[in-house]
Amino acid sequence: PAPPCTLVIFGAAGDLTKRLLMPALYNLAGAGLLDPGFQILGVDHNESSDEALRRDLTQTMESFTKDRSGEFHPDHIDDETWGFVCARIRFQKGDFEDPESYAALKERLTGNVVFYLAVSARFFGAVVEGLGKAGLLKESGDAFRRVVIEKPFGSDLASAKALNARILKQGDERQFYRIDHFLGKETVQSILAVRFANTMLEPVWRRAFVDHVEITAAETIGVEARGRFYEATGALRDMVPNHLFQILAMIGMEPPKSLDAEDIRDAKAALIAAVRPADPGEAARGQYAAGTVRGKAAAGYREEADVAKDSRVETYAALKLTIENERWSGVPFYLRTGKRLGTRLTEVAIRFKPTTLPLFHADGVGPAPGNVMRLMIDPEQGIRTGFTVKRPGPRMLLGQAETHFAYGEAFKEAPSVGYETLLYDCMTGDATLFQRADAIEGGWAAVEPLLEAWKSGEPESYPAGSEGPPSAAHLVERDGRAWLRLD
Ligand code: BG6
Repeated sequence: PAPPCTLVIFGAAGDLTKRLLMPALYNLAGAGLLDPGFQILGVDHNESSDEALRRDLTQTMESFTKDRSGEFHPDHIDDETWGFVCARIRFQKGDFEDPESYAALKERLTGNVVFYLAVSARFFGAVVEGLGKAGLLKESGDAFRRVVIEKPFGSDLASAKALNARILKQGDERQFYRIDHFLGKETVQSILAVRFANTMLEPVWRRAFVDHVEITAAETIGVEARGRFYEATGALRDMVPNHLFQILAMIGMEPPKSLDAEDIRDAKAALIAAVRPADPGEAARGQYAAGTVRGKAAAGYREEADVAKDSRVETYAALKLTIENERWSGVPFYLRTGKRLGTRLTEVAIRFKPTTLPLFHADGVGPAPGNVMRLMIDPEQGIRTGFTVKRPGPRMLLGQAETHFAYGEAFKEAPSVGYETLLYDCMTGDATLFQRADAIEGGWAAVEPLLEAWKSGEPESYPAGSEGPPSAAHLVERDGRAWLRLD
Protein backbone atom coordinates (compact mmCIF):
# COMPACT_ATOMS: atom_id res chain seq x y z
CA PRO A 1 0.00 0.00 0.00
CA ALA A 2 0.86 3.66 -0.33
CA PRO A 3 2.18 5.27 2.87
CA PRO A 4 -0.54 6.42 5.28
CA CYS A 5 -1.72 9.91 4.47
CA THR A 6 -4.71 12.22 4.59
CA LEU A 7 -6.23 13.15 1.27
CA VAL A 8 -7.77 16.59 1.62
CA ILE A 9 -10.21 17.16 -1.24
CA PHE A 10 -11.13 20.78 -1.95
CA GLY A 11 -14.41 20.59 -3.84
CA ALA A 12 -15.60 17.43 -2.06
CA ALA A 13 -19.20 17.91 -3.18
CA GLY A 14 -18.23 18.45 -6.80
CA ASP A 15 -18.53 16.36 -9.90
CA LEU A 16 -14.89 15.33 -10.15
CA THR A 17 -14.89 13.93 -6.61
CA LYS A 18 -18.00 11.88 -7.32
CA ARG A 19 -17.29 10.76 -10.84
CA LEU A 20 -13.58 10.06 -10.71
CA LEU A 21 -11.91 10.35 -7.31
CA MET A 22 -14.27 8.12 -5.34
CA PRO A 23 -14.35 5.31 -7.92
CA ALA A 24 -10.55 5.50 -8.11
CA LEU A 25 -10.20 5.32 -4.32
CA TYR A 26 -12.65 2.42 -4.26
CA ASN A 27 -10.54 0.56 -6.84
CA LEU A 28 -7.35 1.33 -4.92
CA ALA A 29 -8.94 0.03 -1.72
CA GLY A 30 -10.07 -3.10 -3.59
CA ALA A 31 -6.53 -3.68 -4.76
CA GLY A 32 -5.24 -3.32 -1.19
CA LEU A 33 -3.23 -0.23 -2.08
CA LEU A 34 -4.57 2.07 0.64
CA ASP A 35 -3.01 1.92 4.09
CA PRO A 36 -5.33 1.40 7.08
CA GLY A 37 -4.10 4.81 8.25
CA PHE A 38 -5.44 6.47 5.08
CA GLN A 39 -7.97 9.29 5.71
CA ILE A 40 -10.09 11.55 3.52
CA LEU A 41 -11.05 15.06 4.54
CA GLY A 42 -13.56 16.68 2.21
CA VAL A 43 -13.63 20.48 2.17
CA ASP A 44 -16.41 22.41 0.50
CA HIS A 45 -18.09 25.78 0.90
CA ASN A 46 -21.56 24.23 1.09
CA GLU A 47 -23.01 23.04 4.37
CA SER A 48 -22.57 19.31 4.99
CA SER A 49 -21.37 16.87 7.66
CA ASP A 50 -19.34 13.66 7.87
CA GLU A 51 -22.56 11.68 7.70
CA ALA A 52 -24.17 13.68 4.89
CA LEU A 53 -21.06 13.57 2.71
CA ARG A 54 -20.73 9.81 3.26
CA ARG A 55 -24.39 9.33 2.37
CA ASP A 56 -24.09 11.43 -0.80
CA LEU A 57 -20.99 9.69 -1.99
CA THR A 58 -22.44 6.26 -1.23
CA GLN A 59 -25.48 7.13 -3.33
CA THR A 60 -23.38 8.21 -6.28
CA MET A 61 -21.21 5.11 -6.01
CA GLU A 62 -24.33 2.97 -6.11
CA SER A 63 -25.70 4.86 -9.11
CA PHE A 64 -22.66 3.80 -11.17
CA THR A 65 -23.90 0.23 -11.24
CA LYS A 66 -26.88 1.44 -13.28
CA ASP A 67 -25.19 4.18 -15.26
CA ARG A 68 -23.24 2.67 -18.15
CA SER A 69 -22.26 6.01 -19.70
CA GLY A 70 -19.15 6.81 -17.64
CA GLU A 71 -15.76 5.14 -17.31
CA PHE A 72 -16.75 3.31 -14.13
CA HIS A 73 -19.64 0.88 -14.20
CA PRO A 74 -19.14 -2.13 -11.94
CA ASP A 75 -21.87 -4.77 -11.60
CA HIS A 76 -22.07 -4.12 -7.90
CA ILE A 77 -20.31 -2.12 -5.23
CA ASP A 78 -18.53 -4.38 -2.79
CA ASP A 79 -19.67 -3.34 0.70
CA GLU A 80 -16.44 -4.16 2.44
CA THR A 81 -14.30 -2.24 -0.03
CA TRP A 82 -16.55 0.81 -0.14
CA GLY A 83 -16.93 0.55 3.66
CA PHE A 84 -13.16 0.90 3.98
CA VAL A 85 -13.20 4.14 1.97
CA CYS A 86 -16.46 5.51 3.34
CA ALA A 87 -15.53 5.07 7.00
CA ARG A 88 -12.50 7.27 6.41
CA ILE A 89 -14.42 10.24 5.00
CA ARG A 90 -14.74 13.37 7.13
CA PHE A 91 -16.08 16.79 6.19
CA GLN A 92 -15.03 20.32 6.92
CA LYS A 93 -16.87 23.38 5.71
CA GLY A 94 -14.49 25.93 4.29
CA ASP A 95 -14.39 28.97 2.08
CA PHE A 96 -11.44 28.57 -0.29
CA GLU A 97 -10.51 32.24 0.03
CA ASP A 98 -10.84 32.58 3.79
CA PRO A 99 -7.63 32.24 5.87
CA GLU A 100 -9.71 30.86 8.74
CA SER A 101 -10.52 27.75 6.72
CA TYR A 102 -6.82 27.01 6.52
CA ALA A 103 -6.24 27.74 10.19
CA ALA A 104 -9.01 25.24 10.98
CA LEU A 105 -7.42 22.69 8.66
CA LYS A 106 -4.10 23.16 10.38
CA GLU A 107 -5.67 22.11 13.67
CA ARG A 108 -6.79 18.82 12.19
CA LEU A 109 -3.86 17.79 10.02
CA THR A 110 -0.63 16.06 10.97
CA GLY A 111 1.78 13.86 9.06
CA ASN A 112 1.52 13.13 5.33
CA VAL A 113 -1.05 15.12 3.44
CA VAL A 114 -2.08 15.26 -0.20
CA PHE A 115 -4.20 18.34 -0.98
CA TYR A 116 -6.35 17.72 -4.03
CA LEU A 117 -7.70 20.81 -5.76
CA ALA A 118 -10.91 19.50 -7.36
CA VAL A 119 -12.10 23.10 -7.68
CA SER A 120 -12.64 25.61 -10.43
CA ALA A 121 -9.35 26.87 -11.88
CA ARG A 122 -9.96 30.37 -10.56
CA PHE A 123 -9.32 29.06 -7.04
CA PHE A 124 -6.02 27.26 -7.74
CA GLY A 125 -3.82 30.19 -6.78
CA ALA A 126 -5.91 31.16 -3.76
CA VAL A 127 -6.00 27.65 -2.29
CA VAL A 128 -2.26 27.15 -2.67
CA GLU A 129 -1.65 30.54 -1.09
CA GLY A 130 -4.05 29.72 1.74
CA LEU A 131 -2.21 26.47 2.38
CA GLY A 132 1.22 28.08 2.17
CA LYS A 133 0.44 31.01 4.41
CA ALA A 134 -1.06 28.72 7.05
CA GLY A 135 2.19 26.72 7.03
CA LEU A 136 0.39 23.66 5.69
CA LEU A 137 2.95 23.07 2.94
CA LYS A 138 5.93 22.91 5.30
CA GLU A 139 7.34 19.41 5.37
CA SER A 140 8.90 18.31 8.61
CA GLY A 141 10.90 15.15 9.09
CA ASP A 142 9.74 12.50 6.63
CA ALA A 143 6.20 13.82 6.38
CA PHE A 144 5.22 15.00 2.92
CA ARG A 145 2.87 17.77 1.85
CA ARG A 146 1.78 17.57 -1.78
CA VAL A 147 -0.71 19.49 -3.88
CA VAL A 148 -2.58 18.06 -6.85
CA ILE A 149 -3.77 20.67 -9.33
CA GLU A 150 -6.32 19.92 -12.01
CA LYS A 151 -6.45 21.49 -15.44
CA PRO A 152 -6.84 24.03 -16.96
CA PHE A 153 -3.52 25.32 -15.70
CA GLY A 154 -3.68 28.92 -16.91
CA SER A 155 -5.48 30.11 -20.00
CA ASP A 156 -2.44 31.25 -21.97
CA LEU A 157 1.31 31.49 -21.54
CA ALA A 158 1.25 34.61 -19.37
CA SER A 159 -1.38 33.29 -16.96
CA ALA A 160 0.27 29.86 -16.72
CA LYS A 161 3.59 31.55 -15.90
CA ALA A 162 1.90 33.75 -13.33
CA LEU A 163 0.18 30.78 -11.70
CA ASN A 164 3.42 28.81 -11.62
CA ALA A 165 5.20 31.77 -10.04
CA ARG A 166 2.39 32.20 -7.51
CA ILE A 167 2.33 28.59 -6.35
CA LEU A 168 6.08 28.18 -6.39
CA LYS A 169 6.32 30.98 -3.81
CA GLN A 170 4.47 28.70 -1.41
CA GLY A 171 6.30 25.43 -2.00
CA ASP A 172 8.85 23.55 -4.00
CA GLU A 173 8.22 22.30 -7.57
CA ARG A 174 8.44 18.69 -6.36
CA GLN A 175 5.44 19.25 -4.06
CA PHE A 176 3.13 20.17 -6.97
CA TYR A 177 1.42 17.48 -9.03
CA ARG A 178 -0.24 19.05 -12.08
CA ILE A 179 -2.73 16.54 -13.39
CA ASP A 180 -3.42 15.77 -16.99
CA HIS A 181 -5.87 12.91 -16.90
CA PHE A 182 -4.75 11.68 -20.32
CA LEU A 183 -1.57 10.53 -18.60
CA GLY A 184 -3.74 8.34 -16.39
CA LYS A 185 -4.86 6.41 -19.46
CA GLU A 186 -3.12 3.04 -19.73
CA THR A 187 -2.95 3.41 -23.49
CA VAL A 188 -1.05 6.70 -23.19
CA GLN A 189 1.35 5.31 -20.61
CA SER A 190 1.93 2.30 -22.82
CA ILE A 191 3.33 4.48 -25.63
CA LEU A 192 6.64 4.52 -23.75
CA ALA A 193 6.79 0.71 -23.74
CA VAL A 194 5.58 0.35 -27.32
CA ARG A 195 8.21 2.76 -28.58
CA PHE A 196 11.24 1.81 -26.59
CA ALA A 197 10.73 -1.87 -25.71
CA ASN A 198 10.25 -3.01 -29.32
CA THR A 199 13.34 -3.27 -31.47
CA MET A 200 11.26 -3.29 -34.63
CA LEU A 201 9.80 0.15 -33.92
CA GLU A 202 12.44 2.47 -32.51
CA PRO A 203 14.68 2.46 -35.63
CA VAL A 204 11.82 3.52 -37.92
CA TRP A 205 10.26 6.03 -35.53
CA ARG A 206 11.89 9.04 -37.22
CA ARG A 207 11.90 11.26 -40.25
CA ALA A 208 13.65 8.82 -42.57
CA PHE A 209 10.61 6.52 -42.34
CA VAL A 210 7.69 8.53 -41.02
CA ASP A 211 5.84 10.76 -43.46
CA HIS A 212 3.59 12.44 -40.89
CA VAL A 213 1.74 11.84 -37.65
CA GLU A 214 -1.94 12.45 -36.88
CA ILE A 215 -3.20 12.93 -33.35
CA THR A 216 -6.97 12.86 -33.03
CA ALA A 217 -9.32 13.37 -30.09
CA ALA A 218 -12.82 13.30 -31.54
CA GLU A 219 -15.87 13.39 -29.32
CA THR A 220 -19.54 12.85 -30.05
CA ILE A 221 -20.69 14.72 -26.95
CA GLY A 222 -21.34 18.44 -27.04
CA VAL A 223 -20.55 20.87 -24.24
CA GLU A 224 -23.23 19.25 -22.06
CA ALA A 225 -23.77 21.26 -18.88
CA ARG A 226 -20.43 23.03 -19.17
CA GLY A 227 -21.45 25.95 -21.40
CA ARG A 228 -20.12 28.57 -19.04
CA PHE A 229 -16.73 26.90 -18.71
CA TYR A 230 -16.51 26.22 -22.42
CA GLU A 231 -17.38 29.77 -23.45
CA ALA A 232 -14.27 30.92 -21.60
CA THR A 233 -12.18 28.04 -22.86
CA GLY A 234 -12.90 26.61 -26.32
CA ALA A 235 -11.53 23.47 -27.92
CA LEU A 236 -7.98 24.73 -28.34
CA ARG A 237 -7.40 25.61 -24.68
CA ASP A 238 -9.45 22.68 -23.41
CA MET A 239 -7.59 19.94 -25.27
CA VAL A 240 -4.50 20.98 -27.21
CA PRO A 241 -1.66 22.43 -25.08
CA ASN A 242 -2.45 19.89 -22.37
CA HIS A 243 -3.93 16.53 -23.45
CA LEU A 244 -2.79 16.47 -27.07
CA PHE A 245 0.64 17.84 -26.20
CA GLN A 246 1.11 15.11 -23.61
CA ILE A 247 0.42 12.54 -26.31
CA LEU A 248 2.66 14.43 -28.72
CA ALA A 249 5.47 14.39 -26.17
CA MET A 250 5.12 10.65 -25.57
CA ILE A 251 5.13 9.97 -29.32
CA GLY A 252 7.98 12.31 -30.14
CA MET A 253 10.37 12.33 -27.19
CA GLU A 254 13.86 10.84 -27.21
CA PRO A 255 14.42 7.76 -25.03
CA PRO A 256 14.64 8.99 -21.43
CA LYS A 257 17.85 8.19 -19.54
CA SER A 258 15.88 6.07 -17.11
CA LEU A 259 12.31 5.50 -15.97
CA ASP A 260 12.79 8.05 -13.18
CA ALA A 261 10.22 10.81 -13.17
CA GLU A 262 12.76 13.56 -13.77
CA ASP A 263 14.39 11.78 -16.71
CA ILE A 264 11.03 11.14 -18.37
CA ARG A 265 9.89 14.68 -17.74
CA ASP A 266 13.20 16.05 -19.08
CA ALA A 267 12.74 14.06 -22.29
CA LYS A 268 9.16 15.29 -22.69
CA ALA A 269 10.04 18.89 -21.93
CA ALA A 270 12.87 18.77 -24.50
CA LEU A 271 10.43 17.58 -27.16
CA ILE A 272 7.87 20.26 -26.31
CA ALA A 273 10.59 22.91 -26.39
CA ALA A 274 11.48 21.80 -29.95
CA VAL A 275 7.90 22.35 -31.20
CA ARG A 276 7.77 25.49 -33.36
CA PRO A 277 4.99 27.96 -32.53
CA ALA A 278 1.84 27.03 -34.45
CA ASP A 279 1.09 29.03 -37.60
CA PRO A 280 -2.47 30.42 -37.74
CA GLY A 281 -2.30 29.99 -41.52
CA GLU A 282 -1.94 26.24 -40.94
CA ALA A 283 -4.82 25.70 -38.56
CA ALA A 284 -8.59 25.24 -38.66
CA ARG A 285 -11.21 26.45 -36.26
CA GLY A 286 -14.78 25.21 -36.26
CA GLN A 287 -18.02 25.39 -34.31
CA TYR A 288 -20.80 22.82 -34.46
CA ALA A 289 -24.16 23.70 -35.92
CA ALA A 290 -27.27 21.57 -35.50
CA GLY A 291 -27.04 18.12 -37.02
CA THR A 292 -27.44 14.44 -36.32
CA VAL A 293 -25.06 12.46 -34.17
CA ARG A 294 -25.45 8.68 -34.31
CA GLY A 295 -29.03 8.98 -35.48
CA LYS A 296 -30.02 11.53 -32.84
CA ALA A 297 -30.78 15.18 -33.55
CA ALA A 298 -28.26 17.47 -31.87
CA ALA A 299 -28.56 21.22 -31.28
CA GLY A 300 -25.94 23.64 -32.50
CA TYR A 301 -23.37 25.06 -30.07
CA ARG A 302 -25.05 28.48 -30.01
CA GLU A 303 -28.28 26.84 -28.84
CA GLU A 304 -26.62 25.17 -25.84
CA ALA A 305 -27.30 26.37 -22.28
CA ASP A 306 -25.06 29.22 -21.06
CA VAL A 307 -23.68 29.83 -24.56
CA ALA A 308 -23.99 33.22 -26.28
CA LYS A 309 -26.25 33.27 -29.33
CA ASP A 310 -23.43 34.85 -31.32
CA SER A 311 -20.59 32.93 -29.65
CA ARG A 312 -17.34 32.78 -31.63
CA VAL A 313 -15.86 30.09 -29.42
CA GLU A 314 -14.43 27.13 -31.31
CA THR A 315 -15.58 23.60 -30.58
CA TYR A 316 -13.14 22.16 -33.10
CA ALA A 317 -9.46 22.88 -33.61
CA ALA A 318 -6.97 21.40 -36.04
CA LEU A 319 -3.37 22.47 -36.46
CA LYS A 320 -0.13 21.50 -38.05
CA LEU A 321 2.99 21.43 -35.91
CA THR A 322 6.60 21.00 -36.79
CA ILE A 323 9.34 19.82 -34.50
CA GLU A 324 12.83 21.10 -35.09
CA ASN A 325 15.13 18.31 -34.06
CA GLU A 326 17.20 15.57 -35.62
CA ARG A 327 14.45 12.96 -35.34
CA TRP A 328 11.46 14.92 -36.60
CA SER A 329 12.58 17.82 -38.74
CA GLY A 330 10.34 17.93 -41.85
CA VAL A 331 7.69 15.56 -40.42
CA PRO A 332 4.40 17.37 -39.87
CA PHE A 333 2.31 16.49 -36.83
CA TYR A 334 -1.35 17.19 -37.51
CA LEU A 335 -3.55 17.54 -34.43
CA ARG A 336 -7.34 17.69 -34.42
CA THR A 337 -9.96 17.69 -31.72
CA GLY A 338 -13.61 18.54 -31.64
CA LYS A 339 -16.96 18.03 -30.04
CA ARG A 340 -20.14 16.72 -31.67
CA LEU A 341 -18.30 14.83 -34.37
CA GLY A 342 -19.67 11.63 -35.87
CA THR A 343 -17.36 9.33 -33.92
CA ARG A 344 -15.73 9.14 -30.53
CA LEU A 345 -12.10 8.33 -31.19
CA THR A 346 -8.81 9.21 -29.56
CA GLU A 347 -5.86 7.84 -31.45
CA VAL A 348 -2.41 8.48 -32.86
CA ALA A 349 -1.75 7.44 -36.43
CA ILE A 350 1.85 7.05 -37.50
CA ARG A 351 1.80 7.35 -41.28
CA PHE A 352 4.94 5.77 -42.70
CA LYS A 353 6.43 6.72 -46.06
CA PRO A 354 5.58 4.52 -49.00
CA THR A 355 8.30 2.21 -50.24
CA THR A 356 10.56 3.74 -52.86
CA LEU A 357 11.17 0.45 -54.66
CA PRO A 358 9.73 0.60 -58.20
CA LEU A 359 8.93 -3.13 -57.92
CA PHE A 360 5.18 -2.70 -57.50
CA HIS A 361 4.65 0.32 -59.70
CA ALA A 362 3.35 -1.60 -62.71
CA ASP A 363 -0.25 -0.90 -63.73
CA GLY A 364 -2.81 -2.87 -61.80
CA VAL A 365 -0.38 -4.29 -59.22
CA GLY A 366 -0.44 -1.62 -56.58
CA PRO A 367 -0.78 0.77 -55.03
CA ALA A 368 1.53 0.18 -52.08
CA PRO A 369 0.68 3.03 -49.74
CA GLY A 370 2.77 3.78 -46.66
CA ASN A 371 2.02 1.65 -43.62
CA VAL A 372 -0.24 3.11 -41.00
CA MET A 373 0.16 2.24 -37.35
CA ARG A 374 -2.72 3.38 -35.17
CA LEU A 375 -2.28 3.57 -31.42
CA MET A 376 -5.89 3.42 -30.27
CA ILE A 377 -6.27 5.30 -27.02
CA ASP A 378 -10.03 5.55 -26.47
CA PRO A 379 -12.61 4.04 -26.51
CA GLU A 380 -10.94 1.23 -28.41
CA GLN A 381 -7.70 0.41 -26.64
CA GLY A 382 -5.11 -1.35 -28.71
CA ILE A 383 -2.94 -1.10 -31.80
CA ARG A 384 -3.91 -1.52 -35.43
CA THR A 385 -1.13 -1.96 -37.95
CA GLY A 386 -1.76 -1.89 -41.66
CA PHE A 387 0.26 -4.03 -44.05
CA THR A 388 0.47 -4.35 -47.77
CA VAL A 389 0.35 -8.03 -48.74
CA LYS A 390 -0.15 -10.11 -51.86
CA ARG A 391 -3.75 -10.90 -52.61
CA PRO A 392 -4.25 -14.66 -52.86
CA GLY A 393 -4.45 -15.70 -56.52
CA PRO A 394 -2.31 -16.42 -59.54
CA ARG A 395 -1.09 -12.84 -60.13
CA MET A 396 1.01 -10.51 -58.02
CA LEU A 397 -1.64 -8.07 -56.92
CA LEU A 398 -1.31 -6.06 -53.76
CA GLY A 399 -3.97 -5.81 -51.08
CA GLN A 400 -4.33 -4.07 -47.73
CA ALA A 401 -4.61 -5.97 -44.45
CA GLU A 402 -4.54 -5.02 -40.81
CA THR A 403 -3.37 -6.73 -37.64
CA HIS A 404 -5.13 -5.76 -34.48
CA PHE A 405 -4.30 -6.15 -30.85
CA ALA A 406 -6.68 -5.18 -28.00
CA TYR A 407 -5.45 -4.57 -24.46
CA GLY A 408 -8.67 -6.04 -23.05
CA GLU A 409 -8.15 -9.34 -24.86
CA ALA A 410 -4.42 -9.63 -24.27
CA PHE A 411 -4.56 -8.80 -20.56
CA LYS A 412 -7.15 -9.64 -17.98
CA GLU A 413 -6.38 -6.81 -15.55
CA ALA A 414 -9.47 -4.92 -14.45
CA PRO A 415 -9.92 -1.64 -16.31
CA SER A 416 -9.40 1.49 -14.25
CA VAL A 417 -10.93 4.95 -14.32
CA GLY A 418 -7.48 6.38 -14.93
CA TYR A 419 -7.25 8.27 -11.66
CA GLU A 420 -6.10 5.23 -9.64
CA THR A 421 -2.56 5.43 -10.94
CA LEU A 422 -2.49 9.20 -10.62
CA LEU A 423 -3.66 9.15 -6.99
CA TYR A 424 -1.45 6.24 -6.04
CA ASP A 425 1.59 7.83 -7.69
CA CYS A 426 0.99 11.05 -5.85
CA MET A 427 0.77 9.23 -2.52
CA THR A 428 3.98 7.34 -3.26
CA GLY A 429 5.76 10.44 -4.58
CA ASP A 430 6.15 9.36 -8.21
CA ALA A 431 5.71 12.45 -10.37
CA THR A 432 6.28 10.73 -13.73
CA LEU A 433 2.69 11.16 -14.88
CA PHE A 434 2.33 14.75 -13.75
CA GLN A 435 3.25 17.83 -15.66
CA ARG A 436 6.20 19.96 -14.77
CA ALA A 437 5.99 23.76 -15.05
CA ASP A 438 8.25 23.85 -18.14
CA ALA A 439 6.13 21.41 -20.14
CA ILE A 440 2.94 23.31 -19.34
CA GLU A 441 4.46 26.61 -20.34
CA GLY A 442 5.94 25.02 -23.49
CA GLY A 443 2.49 23.83 -24.54
CA TRP A 444 1.01 27.28 -24.11
CA ALA A 445 3.93 28.92 -25.93
CA ALA A 446 3.40 26.67 -28.96
CA VAL A 447 -0.30 27.53 -29.34
CA GLU A 448 0.02 31.21 -28.42
CA PRO A 449 -0.11 32.45 -32.06
CA LEU A 450 -3.45 30.66 -32.51
CA LEU A 451 -4.88 32.08 -29.29
CA GLU A 452 -3.92 35.51 -30.54
CA ALA A 453 -5.24 35.04 -34.08
CA TRP A 454 -8.51 33.48 -32.94
CA LYS A 455 -9.43 36.50 -30.85
CA SER A 456 -10.97 37.86 -34.03
CA GLY A 457 -12.90 36.37 -36.92
CA GLU A 458 -15.45 33.59 -36.86
CA PRO A 459 -15.05 29.85 -36.55
CA GLU A 460 -16.22 27.85 -39.54
CA SER A 461 -19.49 26.04 -38.99
CA TYR A 462 -19.72 22.25 -39.25
CA PRO A 463 -22.82 20.11 -38.82
CA ALA A 464 -23.00 18.03 -35.64
CA GLY A 465 -22.20 14.43 -36.57
CA SER A 466 -19.76 15.35 -39.36
CA GLU A 467 -15.95 15.06 -39.52
CA GLY A 468 -15.39 18.74 -38.73
CA PRO A 469 -15.04 21.90 -40.83
CA PRO A 470 -13.84 21.74 -44.46
CA SER A 471 -10.78 23.85 -43.64
CA ALA A 472 -9.46 21.01 -41.45
CA ALA A 473 -9.46 18.74 -44.48
CA HIS A 474 -7.77 21.46 -46.58
CA LEU A 475 -5.06 21.80 -43.97
CA VAL A 476 -3.69 18.36 -44.81
CA GLU A 477 -4.84 18.22 -48.44
CA ARG A 478 -2.69 21.26 -49.19
CA ASP A 479 0.27 19.10 -48.25
CA GLY A 480 -0.92 16.29 -50.53
CA ARG A 481 -2.21 14.22 -47.61
CA ALA A 482 -5.54 13.21 -46.08
CA TRP A 483 -6.69 12.53 -42.53
CA LEU A 484 -7.68 9.00 -41.69
CA ARG A 485 -11.44 8.84 -41.87
CA LEU A 486 -13.32 9.25 -38.61
CA ASP A 487 -15.36 6.08 -38.57
C1 BG6 B 1 -11.41 17.15 -20.45
C2 BG6 B 1 -12.06 18.26 -21.21
O1 BG6 B 1 -10.20 17.59 -19.90
O2 BG6 B 1 -11.20 16.04 -21.30
C3 BG6 B 1 -13.38 17.78 -21.80
O3 BG6 B 1 -12.29 19.38 -20.37
C4 BG6 B 1 -13.17 16.52 -22.63
O4 BG6 B 1 -13.98 18.79 -22.58
C5 BG6 B 1 -12.38 15.49 -21.84
O5 BG6 B 1 -14.44 16.00 -22.96
C6 BG6 B 1 -11.99 14.31 -22.72
O6 BG6 B 1 -11.46 13.31 -21.93
P1 BG6 B 1 -11.71 11.79 -22.25
O7 BG6 B 1 -10.92 11.04 -21.22
O8 BG6 B 1 -13.19 11.57 -22.17
O9 BG6 B 1 -11.18 11.57 -23.65
